[in-house]
Amino acid sequence: MEIREGGRTFIVPDEDDPAFFNPAMELNRDITVAVLRAASGELVTETEPTYLDAMAASGIRGARAGIEGYTVTCCDRSEAALTYARENLERHDLDGTVVQADTRCHLLGTRYTVVDIDPFGSPMPFIDAAVSQTNDLLCVTATDTAPLCGAHRPAGIRRYSSVPSITEDHPEIGLRTLIGAIARHAAIHDVAVEPILSHTTRHYHRTYLAISEGATLADAVIEQVGFMERCETCGWRDERLGLAPSLRACCPTCDGTVTRIGPLWLGPYRDREFTQSVENTIDENMGTATKSRRLLDRLADEAEIAGHHDHHEICDRLELPAGPMDEVLNGLQAAGFTATRTHFSGITFKTDAPIEHIEAIVSDSA
Ligand SMILES: C[S@@+](CC[C@H](N)C(=O)[O-])C[C@H]1O[C@@H](n2cnc3c(N)ncnc32)[C@H](O)[C@@H]1O
Ligand SMILES: [Zn+2]
Repeated sequence: MEIREGGRTFIVPDEDDPAFFNPAMELNRDITVAVLRAASGELVTETEPTYLDAMAASGIRGARAGIEGYTVTCCDRSEAALTYARENLERHDLDGTVVQADTRCHLLGTRYTVVDIDPFGSPMPFIDAAVSQTNDLLCVTATDTAPLCGAHRPAGIRRYSSVPSITEDHPEIGLRTLIGAIARHAAIHDVAVEPILSHTTRHYHRTYLAISEGATLADAVIEQVGFMERCETCGWRDERLGLAPSLRACCPTCDGTVTRIGPLWLGPYRDREFTQSVENTIDENMGTATKSRRLLDRLADEAEIAGHHDHHEICDRLELPAGPMDEVLNGLQAAGFTATRTHFSGITFKTDAPIEHIEAIVSDSA
């Protein structure tokens, strides 16, 4: 069937077809195009940049990158999918290449300016091949949000070499677990990653990582990996950088049990200025222009604090009705703390206030 995205028409499989297409990923693809535009001439300086759509399926993502001026390769192990990818490149007069292969084998022999990993579930089986063959920008989607946020703990530990936990800010824990695992895998290859834009939307995490080579740079990246500590009784929180920090067994406030989460990424997961440039390249041809701008705006405004709070969960704990969240934010700011909304949901906020101040202000606003 035909669909329109980014002001162009593409052919994609319908529901009965074994080849894959998910219309709900339009926002993911729109933001990818906006990132490619913002990166052009800044992060991506090659005059003839190349883009590997490493799990191409219908090739719609690759074709959209091709329209932006990239020389595109669409790779997929499914021949059924690649029939669509060939047609999508042809109908937009793109000189792209279509490869039927396991993307790890294909990557062994070829480097690309941009590599885009968009698998079913976890991207981790593909990260070693991708980081070592990417020149400038690595784009990664993970749809296995349950393992990443602690809901399927053994799978989270197995895939990400990290111990997740179900917390009130589990979407952010999942995103940071993903970035932390990619950073550690990249470092094995003396590759440094810098997450310049990342978001969690519906059922997936997406991160865009600037790539540099060098052991010293990779060492500096690893220094931003660490652990979060959370008291299960009173909500006290702390974080510790490093892969072997000393971690508390008991809460310093109430002596309750402390849960350790990690290793995960504790550094910024987006660059504010880059996020604003990406927002500026969203155009009205994009079907998700309004939603994408709102998301990027929220992401740019977020405080750079690891972890966030869920207003409704705090109210449930305190057995109070939830008042307006703006009152909570204003109250925290008036008390001298940083407080911002987050892109994770409309009822979450980031603050550097300790839990007792947050609870007092939430109670006042209820
Ligand atoms: C989620 S879909 C990709 C969607 C596509 N990027 C888009 O934006 O519409 C995942 C694709 O990865 C392909 N795939 C899975 N494992 C692969 C592998 N090891 N090598 C190459 N392709 C693979 C599947 O055949 C499937 O088409
Ligand atoms: Zn405590």
